[in-house]
Amino acid sequence: MITYNNNIFNIETKNSSYVFTNENCLQNIYWGDKIYGEDLTYLIKDREHSSFDHNINLERDEYSFWTGYSFLESCLKISYPHTRKLDMKFIDYALEKVNKDLERLSFRYKNSYSGLYVTLVYEVYAEYDIISRYAEIYNEGEEVVIENLKSASVCVPKLDKYRVKYLTGKWAAESQINDQYLTTGAFALQSRSGNTGPHFNPSFALDDGTATEKSGEVWFGLLGYSNNWQITFERTIYNNVKITGGISNFDFAYTLKTAETIKTPTMTLGYSSGGFGEMSRKLHAFEAAHIFPKRGLGRVLYNSWEATYFDVRIDSQKALAERAAGIGVELFVIDDGWFGERHNDRAGLGDWLVNKEKFPNGLSELIDYVKSLGMDFGIWVEPEAVNPDSDLYRAHPDWIYRFKDQEPLQARNQYTLNISKREVKEFIIDFMSKLLSENKDITFIKWDMNKTLTDVSQGDTAKDKELWFRHAQALYEIWAVLRDKFPHVEFEVCSGGGARIDLGILQYADQCWPSDNTDAYERLFIQEGFSYFYAPRIMTAWVTDASSNNERKFERPYSYRFHSSMMGVLGIGANITKFSEEVLEEFRKYIAIYKEIRETVQYGKQYRLSSVRDSSLHAVEYISQDQKEIIVFAFRQGYQFGGEMPNLLLSGLNPDALYQIDGFDKPIHGSTLMKVGIETSLSGDFDSQFLKITRVD
Ligand code: DGJ
Repeated sequence: MITYNNNIFNIETKNSSYVFTNENCLQNIYWGDKIYGEDLTYLIKDREHSSFDHNINLERDEYSFWTGYSFLESCLKISYPHTRKLDMKFIDYALEKVNKDLERLSFRYKNSYSGLYVTLVYEVYAEYDIISRYAEIYNEGEEVVIENLKSASVCVPKLDKYRVKYLTGKWAAESQINDQYLTTGAFALQSRSGNTGPHFNPSFALDDGTATEKSGEVWFGLLGYSNNWQITFERTIYNNVKITGGISNFDFAYTLKTAETIKTPTMTLGYSSGGFGEMSRKLHAFEAAHIFPKRGLGRVLYNSWEATYFDVRIDSQKALAERAAGIGVELFVIDDGWFGERHNDRAGLGDWLVNKEKFPNGLSELIDYVKSLGMDFGIWVEPEAVNPDSDLYRAHPDWIYRFKDQEPLQARNQYTLNISKREVKEFIIDFMSKLLSENKDITFIKWDMNKTLTDVSQGDTAKDKELWFRHAQALYEIWAVLRDKFPHVEFEVCSGGGARIDLGILQYADQCWPSDNTDAYERLFIQEGFSYFYAPRIMTAWVTDASSNNERKFERPYSYRFHSSMMGVLGIGANITKFSEEVLEEFRKYIAIYKEIRETVQYGKQYRLSSVRDSSLHAVEYISQDQKEIIVFAFRQGYQFGGEMPNLLLSGLNPDALYQIDGFDKPIHGSTLMKVGIETSLSGDFDSQFLKITRVD
């Protein structure tokens, strides 16, 4: 519910209050546990210190327009040929009940001397304690250059300490959880590589340093943007903490023409008083209901990348498919190498015609075979990039980003296409449409992107700076068109692993590939970090021979590999043609178990019981929507110092209900399982355990 009384806007969600006033500026006065927001009129007053701090209230501004007395990160900065001053005047606000789950509050402003309008939007998902924020800039007047454009600012209450938890990473080591205490000054998370990036994910959780998995106040946020972004945390001398998120200022400019509107990416904000675990569960449920397009169950897939790499040939793929079908795989996906002269990463990218030497009878022979085995078919593409050694590049050297007369940089022997060009966008939509309409049985696309954006330019003018933004816009547009044209096709987003995971692209993607690191032990870290902000139901996890592209060969029992991968959308990536019938039987058994429990894993509530980062026991629990089925995966990594294992304490159960653990002789009360727990059977190195528990009614 949203109310407005005595200049106070009070956004009440199920468990939180978000209170701000439009007196002076749009100033945040409280965000946290539920209170009577209208009481806070006594906080509305002028705050001044000296001529250097003329208006301290501006430190809590929800969207600061530069110019003025605020010197913190601004949200909108513009430039006309004659002035750079921005003088935004409040016009009105509007409240709209969009549907039963969503209320929208918006504020309109107009520049006093030009036809520039700004609408600040708050979309309130009360059930999840989540508020999504963005801004729309509309220009009725003369052309204006936007130099800085953010989605929103938000302030947390004053705390003794401010700890920010966020995800860092690199290729094959994404989603690592990090902590940073804020000192007076600014701290920023960002990407300047033209993609969401593997180094930082656009997400954070902030607390006072005392929150745990199960308790404490946590303020969190995610930015939905798959290009250069920035989230800045500023702790001021007056101990205000302001968090501003949006498009990075780095090399950014956007010329807003007359009658044009630009919409910022969305910043999703939320509050939890039940620690990091509750934060994640709120996010998982919100994403499932309001972000992800997919409604059904994730299929068990096979991906041939680690088995055959670029050597994708009809015979090898048929052999893999036959084995895959035999162990219960539902979706067979061929990866890189099926097209053009793509025998390694040095050539062929961009030539989206099937390689006739590898598939003499076209793709249909394999697709029909896969279908005859009872599986669906999927295929890999990387449409935004091109190898210099390709027919596409030879025909269109002007389609890539490059500074005039300069040789562009390559990474993985490829250039990036300027997909904001109409003809390039059309080329991608056309070849993808052809692929999907000529092969109606392709029901899954893995969309990869293996290069950072460099040389982002098309002619060395000031307007080139908007190409970063236009790349993201074009990407979303292409995905939207394809999803609309081919509603039966699911899309998986991949960027050399997990370099493109954010709520922007996840509005279009059904699944994502979190990392090329498929080692079952290291995945525990990656998957835990991922689960902080993103739901397990979109996380593809393969069981492979060893860690991908890694010289070290890991010896993990198959049980351990399966248990690790069963915590998301299970996939197989091993070369299953090498396996004995005995091993395949083991695969068959785990895949069958996964199919029985996947609804609980993909749609249930996830509880991180114990973490590999600080315990010898790593355990994750999933509770089905009807709360009757509980699934637990437990892992022990190594034997150390006589290593006695801690008991496995469950979470989220009804204390008075009885629960039957498969293999136990009698049911146990929820309170006992949560307070005393059970002894695990884990022993030795790299052992794992799977528990299926049923509530006894
Ligand atoms: C990077 C991806 O992350 C891998 O899974 C695989 O698809 C390769 N690209 C193919 O080139």
